[in-house]
Amino acid sequence: MRKIKKAVFPVAGLGTRFLPATKSMPKEMLTVIDKPLIYYAVEEAKKSGIEEFIFVTGRGKEAIEDFFDYSYELNAMLERRGKKEDLDLVNALVLDPGQVVYTRQQEPLGLGHAIWCARHLVNDEPFAVLLADDLILSDVPCLKQMMSHYESVGGNMAAVTNVPKEATSGYGILDIEGALDNPLVKAKGLVEKPTVEDAPSTLAILGRYILSPDIFEELEKKRKGAGGEVQITDAFQRMLSTHPFHGYQFEGERFDCGTREGLLQANIAFSLERDDLREVTLKIMRKLAKEL
Ligand code: UTP
Repeated sequence: MRKIKKAVFPVAGLGTRFLPATKSMPKEMLTVIDKPLIYYAVEEAKKSGIEEFIFVTGRGKEAIEDFFDYSYELNAMLERRGKKEDLDLVNALVLDPGQVVYTRQQEPLGLGHAIWCARHLVNDEPFAVLLADDLILSDVPCLKQMMSHYESVGGNMAAVTNVPKEATSGYGILDIEGALDNPLVKAKGLVEKPTVEDAPSTLAILGRYILSPDIFEELEKKRKGAGGEVQITDAFQRMLSTHPFHGYQFEGERFDCGTREGLLQANIAFSLERDDLREVTLKIMRKLAKEL
């Protein structure tokens, strides 16, 4: 099994659930405290050993490219003013030349289509996919946890978590073989956004994947699924007879930053994790709780 070196970051969606903020800025640039969501995803990939970063962008997403680039004017100004700490912060963002590549999805036709747009950059090796709006707080990066299990099973894999029954209609849901007590569960079927009554389980797919490059052949067919979009879950289902699908129940907490509630929760949870913000966050929360 080849080492997973490449990660795809699909960032071409419209982010309509975050209007008006996303009218003129990418959803992936929304911040949790002082870092954009996409930076957390890139940091997770780096810490998991990823060496090549492939962004699938679209119209109006230039801010993401600028963010990971060297800003000559800003660096010169910070140097002149002797702002060493700020310089270190901005220099840490820059991805090495040749380590990052951008391609475009001209029309947001769905996540499956966005991933297919990266086919010539990934070629024929297993690769990771990270969706920035799923932010994960964990001791060991979620992708790294998945990588350590991928080698033994191959095929396609996604991070999964149990969601309340009434939330199943918003996710790709697994029909599983056997019990749920092992972190790695094998699917005998998958369904994208089932009705609550039809959901085969409450185990939902999140935005972390390790995929076989054979998935490009399936995505090439551009079959439309739920919402008229090319759904990655449908590709997993169609490949099941030749490529096993495993869900990995990771250790950590996930925040759905594609929703207002999730982004708010993430801001509070990440502040409580930070030495410079923990006390002030608790103070604010106590004050607000007293006033309720
Ligand atoms: P979402 O399903 O959250 O869709 O995409 P969205 O368009 O970004 O947001 P809403 O639902 O309108 O609010 C999950 C991830 O997949 C990417 C998005 O950019 C996001 O990172 N995506 C989605 C694409 O790159 N292309 C697509 O066609 C759809």
